[in-house]
Amino acid sequence: MQAIRWEMVSDEEEVAVWACRRILLAADQAIATRGQFRIVLAGGRTPERTYRLLSEVDTDWRCWQVYFGDERCLPVGNSQRNSDMAARVWLDRVDMPTANIHVIPAELGPYEAAQQYEALVRQALPFDLALLGLGNDGHTASIFPGAPHLGESLVQPVLHAPKAPSQRVTLSAAALNQCREILVLVSGQEKRAILKAWQQGEPLPISALQPLGELSVIYDREAAPGSSA
Ligand code: 6PG
Repeated sequence: MQAIRWEMVSDEEEVAVWACRRILLAADQAIATRGQFRIVLAGGRTPERTYRLLSEVDTDWRCWQVYFGDERCLPVGNSQRNSDMAARVWLDRVDMPTANIHVIPAELGPYEAAQQYEALVRQALPFDLALLGLGNDGHTASIFPGAPHLGESLVQPVLHAPKAPSQRVTLSAAALNQCREILVLVSGQEKRAILKAWQQGEPLPISALQPLGELSVIYDREAAPGSSA
């Protein structure tokens, strides 16, 4: 059974403030005990504000190792790439060594990129924290409902994603489950139906996740099932 900590906050801004606080707490703990903090980033719209807040905090960026939960197979520098968004609003604005930022080489195509990233992820496990989002259709990272489960692989090529671009690369549940903590960020009324489905036990990709430690969901009033906000 998935044990989930549900935390409802007022709005999108509060989601970001809470997420930023939780990430920093996890970072401080990881750095104090293991000397580094390995975080997996989500893409999409929701985490952008959190990343902007993180760009303003005081921490030892040399101790952070950044990975990505999924990437869209688009050329390097394409603004739709998840890594591009994170770089634009956060990573390029702080003193993090470039060698600490582990981008999925999705420009190589889904197969080659997944194979290369698999080797990297294997060495990085366990991650300290993974941030995830929840698509309106129930996908998380780029694991879409009904997608084939590819055995033990940690990183999977995605060839026919229903959300553009169709070619992607994603961490699998096997990799995400080797995280000490998962933090899911959900905001906006368009997420209400899918959040309700998850809470009611519908089998979504995210329902299968069982991280090593806590799985928390920070969502706002607009996304809250039953809300009229
Ligand atoms: C992607 C994401 C994806 C995202 C959800 C939610 O590349 O699309 O990594 O899993 O987290 O689609 O995205 P929004 O925050 O934009 O709704």
